Amino acid sequence: MLDAINIHWFPGHMTRANRKMQQSLKLVDCVAEIIDARIPISSRNPELIKMTQNKPKLLLFNKTDIADPLQNSSWITYYKNKGFNILSIDAKTGKGLNKFSSALRVSLKDKIQQWEKKGMGLRKIRVMVVGIPNVGKSSCINRLVGNKKAKVEDRPGVTRGNQWFYLSGGVELLDTPGVLWPKISDQIMGENLAFTGAVRDHVIDIEGVALRFINRMVPSYPDNLCQRYKLTKEFINTHSPLEIFYEIGRKRGLLISGGEIDTQRLSQMLLDEFRMARLGRITLEKVEDIKK
Ligand code: G4P
Repeated sequence: MLDAINIHWFPGHMTRANRKMQQSLKLVDCVAEIIDARIPISSRNPELIKMTQNKPKLLLFNKTDIADPLQNSSWITYYKNKGFNILSIDAKTGKGLNKFSSALRVSLKDKIQQWEKKGMGLRKIRVMVVGIPNVGKSSCINRLVGNKKAKVEDRPGVTRGNQWFYLSGGVELLDTPGVLWPKISDQIMGENLAFTGAVRDHVIDIEGVALRFINRMVPSYPDNLCQRYKLTKEFINTHSPLEIFYEIGRKRGLLISGGEIDTQRLSQMLLDEFRMARLGRITLEKVEDIKK
């Protein structure tokens, strides 16, 4: 049995960030929530969902370039069927973001109609961009803003540090800090957040997380694991995650004096390689599992 990952971690600044977000919500028309295509459920902060439930919303389905393409389409359908307006993007290259403004207008259709009735049709659209840490919020905003310099402004009710960005076409973006929620009680969710780097490596037991990662890859992406680390299917099916871990370490020559495996470096390498998609395009949460 592998040990459970313990993530009892919620730094004080996240509580403050949550409070700030709550205050700033009244200043925006719409919320753009960025989610990670590799973990389309775990990357949705339940507290943010609750806080923003009464605002029109656009889901930005990010990191699609490194998530499993088949799962990408299934997840887009899943969210559409649930009534979400969802835009598939890759914030690293900017793919999909050319549709951002038009997608926002779809989310705000009813409000825009009301504004037009009141003769306020040309009103600026204010959007709060939210998401968990490392989901790609800065990349996304940078891509949308382009080379234009970000403008910082103090507005009534907005605590200093919240930054507004102006896009062409009358859209204003309010950036917010990436936040998690106080207690991640679901084991698999905790793993997903640790694997993808939403929870920082220095607050987790990285070796435990790497073992858990292997444990998840064996049944879900055995070919990717075998191909990357030159293992056979027979080997991974007949050995424990710990044995597979050591075998990868030996193959990579990650040794310390005395010939022992450098488990720390090996763990970091495994997680980094997954995050850089060196194992291929992997989605950790599958639509078929959610429906069960
Ligand atoms: P954050 O503000 O939400 O914390 O996230 P940020 O934009 O800093 O992105 C976190 C990491 O995820 C960065 O990688 C970034 O390049 C990467 N990233 C963001 N969006 C995408 C995407 O759509 N596809 C891919 N493949 N990667 C994405 P990093 O390794 O921390 O930095 P770097 O590689 O940019 O130097």
